[in-house]
Amino acid sequence: MRLVITRKGVGNWAAQYVKQQILHAAPTKARPFVLGLPTGGTPLEMYQHLVTMHTRGELSFAHVTTYNMDEYIGLPEGHKESYRTYMFENLFNHIDIDPAQVHIPNGNAPDLAKECEQYTTSIAANGGVDLFLGGVGENGHIAFNEPYSSPAASTRIVHLDMSTRIANSRFFNNDISQVPDKALTVGIQQLMDARQVLILVSGHKKALALRECVEGAISHAWPITALQMHPNVLVVADKDACSELRLKTYSYFKELQDQYSHIEALA
Ligand code: PGA
Repeated sequence: MRLVITRKGVGNWAAQYVKQQILHAAPTKARPFVLGLPTGGTPLEMYQHLVTMHTRGELSFAHVTTYNMDEYIGLPEGHKESYRTYMFENLFNHIDIDPAQVHIPNGNAPDLAKECEQYTTSIAANGGVDLFLGGVGENGHIAFNEPYSSPAASTRIVHLDMSTRIANSRFFNNDISQVPDKALTVGIQQLMDARQVLILVSGHKKALALRECVEGAISHAWPITALQMHPNVLVVADKDACSELRLKTYSYFKELQDQYSHIEALA
């Protein structure tokens, strides 16, 4: 695992990184770049930057295939807080992606178990994910894999932890009763199967989760720690998110950062 502590916004940094990865892959119709995508507050800035890059003609998504991490179960179609709505409003409506290449689990599918199975199969059929982007919950969840999720699970129906529903109630008029208690999520194993993972962590609220992620022992109590076993994980964090790290940890990763200075300079 590599931790990058950025002085720029994590979203800005992540957008520069994503752009570099897509351009480097030079995807084609026959060999698209497969990108795993998160929702929530943290990635919003990244999406704004990606849209700007596209508008300026610097980045095309014509040969990008996307898989979103998760979706609530049971929100009416078109609900403003569904992750489908979020993704189209914040990214897909503003870029040149082929809508047929956009994949978001359908939380209203008549057969949710089958939906999960098909989602897993579809990712594999597209050759797996090249770069999975994600955030982390205050409780250490990754996608909607809440504490005590099996690291071996794939796409499935999950019950949301109360702390997640409380955190997300800010998007639902601060009314927890409006926050769905179930969701579909890709499993930790699917993140492990991605060729590369980039996790965005911002703010004091995530400091404990980041500490467990970087310094903690691998534990299903903190699902993010499973990524310690992934050979190619990058975590980009701001200074506030690092406030629970030991000085020794912070200094070590700061010393390694030269290899990402070109991204820091662009952000
Ligand atoms: P947030 O959510 O970016 O809204 O904090 C992250 C997450 O819960 O994974």
